[in-house]
Amino acid sequence: MPSPDPARQAFTGLGGATIAITGGARGIGWSAALLAEKAGAHIVVGDLSDDSLENVEQRARADGLNIRGVKVDVSVDEQVRSFLRDAAADGRPLGVVCSAGIAPDVDVLEMTPEQWQVVQDVNLRGTFVAAQEAARIMRDRGTGGAIVTISSAVGTTGSPNLTHYAATKGGVITMTRSMAREVGKYGVRVNCVSPGGGLNTPLYLNRATPEQVAARVAGLPMRRLGEPEDCANFIVFLLSDLSSWITGQNFNINGGSIMP
Ligand SMILES: NC(=O)c1ccc[n+]([C@@H]2O[C@H](COP(=O)([O-])OP(=O)(O)OC[C@H]3O[C@@H](n4cnc5c(N)ncnc54)[C@H](O)[C@@H]3O)[C@@H](O)[C@H]2O)c1
Repeated sequence: MPSPDPARQAFTGLGGATIAITGGARGIGWSAALLAEKAGAHIVVGDLSDDSLENVEQRARADGLNIRGVKVDVSVDEQVRSFLRDAAADGRPLGVVCSAGIAPDVDVLEMTPEQWQVVQDVNLRGTFVAAQEAARIMRDRGTGGAIVTISSAVGTTGSPNLTHYAATKGGVITMTRSMAREVGKYGVRVNCVSPGGGLNTPLYLNRATPEQVAARVAGLPMRRLGEPEDCANFIVFLLSDLSSWITGQNFNINGGSIMP
């Protein structure tokens, strides 16, 4: 049965903290959950479906992991706020990761305002409400904390068929910078991770044919897709004391796919 690694726990300062992760039932969020748990944190993952949360609870029970799942739809403001208030109720130092996101392909000339809005509500509004509530809790406690938002390389470059998604991800980057400028005085750090290049998660693989994946890999400097752990490592670093003088930054984790 795995247990927190004492060396890593002391090194990162995450031992005994609570880390709340939206969209944490799979992909990058789940990978961050596993890594932060290994560093000694208590993990609360929020996600959409009973099935995915049941899966989380089962994996946690089977492997003795300190991870619990809570149902939350990040596009519903009050659900996001109560998810975070519930996660923070134990009074431990708090870190928050806003990983929930969707990326449905739509031709820009066919895109309806409704299709546009659904993506805004999950990716941008959902991230804003979560980061805002987290920062309020951290300010009220007077202990500071770390918030990590998730954008995308597409938030810098744009992408065909993802105009709505790219707009949200560009927004997440500038939202992160703006928030960091305001809440730094409370000891709250806000940073953004921008995955790119294609990661080995359903969000990318469900949108790409095997031929498209092969072409993508051939064009990447590192000649492989990213693994969720490639991003999770950096997310956990940003949650930890190791990044104590870093705020308002956007970090591209993409195997060199873009070098802005
Ligand atoms: N995978 C990639 O190649 C890639 C590239 C760039 C950016 N990203 C970003 O990384 C983040 C995580 O992506 P991933 O690859 O792990 O995706 P994923 O699809 O594997 O996981 C996303 C999770 O978010 C959850 N989710 C979706 N809508 C939600 C909602 N309304 N409320 C609560 N949970 C919701 C899903 O159920 C899922 O568990 C996303 O914000 C995504 O935009 C991913």
